[in-house]
Amino acid sequence: MHILVIDGSPRPGKNTDMMCDAFIAGAATKGHTATKFRVAGKKLNGCIHCMQCYKNGPCSQKDDMIPLYDEIEKADMIVLASPIYFWHITAQMKAVIDRMYALYVAGRFKAKKTAGIFVSGGDADCSDEAVSFYNNVIIKRLHWEDCGVLRVARTGRDDYDLEAYKQKAFDLGASL
Ligand SMILES: Cc1cc2nc3c(=O)[nH]c(=O)nc-3n(C[C@H](O)[C@H](O)[C@H](O)COP(=O)(O)O)c2cc1C
Repeated sequence: MHILVIDGSPRPGKNTDMMCDAFIAGAATKGHTATKFRVAGKKLNGCIHCMQCYKNGPCSQKDDMIPLYDEIEKADMIVLASPIYFWHITAQMKAVIDRMYALYVAGRFKAKKTAGIFVSGGDADCSDEAVSFYNNVIIKRLHWEDCGVLRVARTGRDDYDLEAYKQKAFDLGASL
């Protein structure tokens, strides 16, 4: 299958980005292809509720979300990978999710397989809100098929084992 990995970190090359790459490498061992979309450096506005998507759609805002719409439609699976900011996903990741509404109202929003990768500087429970959002919205409301969640924790701490987490991300990809 083809996987779209949405990397919600504004920091290229850091923890979330590395987990995305490890996940993609694992998925490749099973013959899956992947595209990684980094929010870093992109212009991604929040939804402005203009209702254009209800009329001629898909979206009135001409920013870096436009090419992502095609990628979302093409993908069989979407991985939501986000750092934890204030106990939740980043604003950039939320903007991408809100803007998916344009596909949703256009009837172009198909159920996908999905997985979550949530990366916190503090303990694993710092990603509780993000995991709840993943379970209650992405799985329960959108009916996407859950392929697993990886919580990466304590990234800024002395005991952070980057290689062990990269292996977990690889294993999640290889489990598909
Ligand atoms: C604005 C901001 C808010 C953050 N809030 C939290 C938080 O609530 N809980 C937590 O554990 N870490 C928090 N962090 C730390 C990040 O989750 C951590 O540094 C993570 O590794 C960032 O992902 P990255 O390495 O891919 O950039 C915050 C960082 C920033 C910049």
